[in-house]
Amino acid sequence: MNQKFQAPKGVAEYVPPKADEFLAVQTRLRRPAELAGYGAVELPIFEDEALFTRGVGAATDVVSKEMYTFTDRGERRLALRPEGTAGVMRCVIEHGLHNGQLPVKLSYSGPFFRAERPQKGRYRQFNQVGVEAIGSDDPMLDAEVVALADTAFRSLGLTKFELLLTSLGCAACRPAYRERLTNFLATIELDEATRERAEQNPLRVLDDKRGDIQAKLADAPLLIDHICDACQDHYDEVRQLLRVVHVPWVEAPRLVRGLDYYTRTTFEFSHPLLGAQSGIGGGGRYDGLMETLGGPALSGIGYGLGADRALLAREAEGLPALAPANTEVFAIALGDQARKDLTWVVRRLRAGGIPTNMAFGSRSIKSAMKAADRSGARWALIIGDRESAAKKIQVKDLVTGEQVEVATPEVDAFVATKRREAQEGVADVAHA
Ligand code: HAM
Repeated sequence: MNQKFQAPKGVAEYVPPKADEFLAVQTRLRRPAELAGYGAVELPIFEDEALFTRGVGAATDVVSKEMYTFTDRGERRLALRPEGTAGVMRCVIEHGLHNGQLPVKLSYSGPFFRAERPQKGRYRQFNQVGVEAIGSDDPMLDAEVVALADTAFRSLGLTKFELLLTSLGCAACRPAYRERLTNFLATIELDEATRERAEQNPLRVLDDKRGDIQAKLADAPLLIDHICDACQDHYDEVRQLLRVVHVPWVEAPRLVRGLDYYTRTTFEFSHPLLGAQSGIGGGGRYDGLMETLGGPALSGIGYGLGADRALLAREAEGLPALAPANTEVFAIALGDQARKDLTWVVRRLRAGGIPTNMAFGSRSIKSAMKAADRSGARWALIIGDRESAAKKIQVKDLVTGEQVEVATPEVDAFVATKRREAQEGVADVAHA
């Protein structure tokens, strides 16, 4: 027997109707940025491995443990992109996009790859919808970006998420805090692995999920209490503007992100119904990143929204489907001439924007009507050779059971009218 294949371990795979929902989620998540002047970029899914080592940070889990790397046939070291920001910076620098109007505002979506231990909501291939805005440190831009992410999630009908917000300071104030935290960590007892982590990046220790460690960290100094005046003023203005646009948030002084490039405004959207993988999106400022990657000293801010987790969050909140039906009309031909008429009618209906499917193969009317029911269509069109000769079509409303005969050239106008009435909810009133 031939070998059967399975999808690789840990990837999310969607089939209809869930795949239609997934697509609808991505489209909605992208829309707020489109309405705010962000231009689309389409970037490669693999990049030079060093772009991520340098951009995201060699000590991060994302780079050191989770990256899919490979050597291509030209002996180049490449990596499947684990995130989008470094690639966008590379693209901006390579194309000199920063030489035009600033800020450069870009949006993207697509698959990202991390070899994490698979579990619900944590996949090895996942989808993000992101934006990056480069070349302005105006707090108004921070507020715009945060508010767009909030709007994007609300556009999916989600209401139960929380926005966690903090400031991670800047190159001027973070080193002094880092030293303060290192001194504090030296006073508590830590296992060897944690001690090592503390040496590489003491901030990451604050993110330790273990209860006993968290208890020891209760008195740890918090970065937000030690940021410089410039960072404090910046953060205050961001929050003032978020208040103006009614975006609620929770102060999260212990928020630690999994990527090393963040400075100043940093945020995460968390959904309480998703269990361990509660982060549905996150982002922040990365004021030194462009320079680190060989570009000019331009600041930037952006976000990445997790489309897979947003879909799970919609399910957890019990929200109704977003995707429009892909079949509203199901057409059935019984007879040779009828098949020709039907092919023509179906093409016209589709051209008029009416989602239409049809029965294939020579089926009995009974089995074709069953297929019509299963398709989710509201109307069935039935043509036999008798109707064909008379240039007529039977149109059956599968909800009310009502059936009428319509002249073939008029059938698309007839269906369009019925459809509009159904959408406006006036059909019953009109009949009353
Ligand atoms: P991130 O927080 O690593 O940020 O990822 C953003 C979102 O992607 C997460 O909040 C989560 O919803 C989703 N995500 C991440 N890993 C997985 C996974 N294994 N399975 C399912 N979903 C996942 C970034 O990637 C930054 N580049 C965001 C950013 C843009 N910051 C500034 N600009």
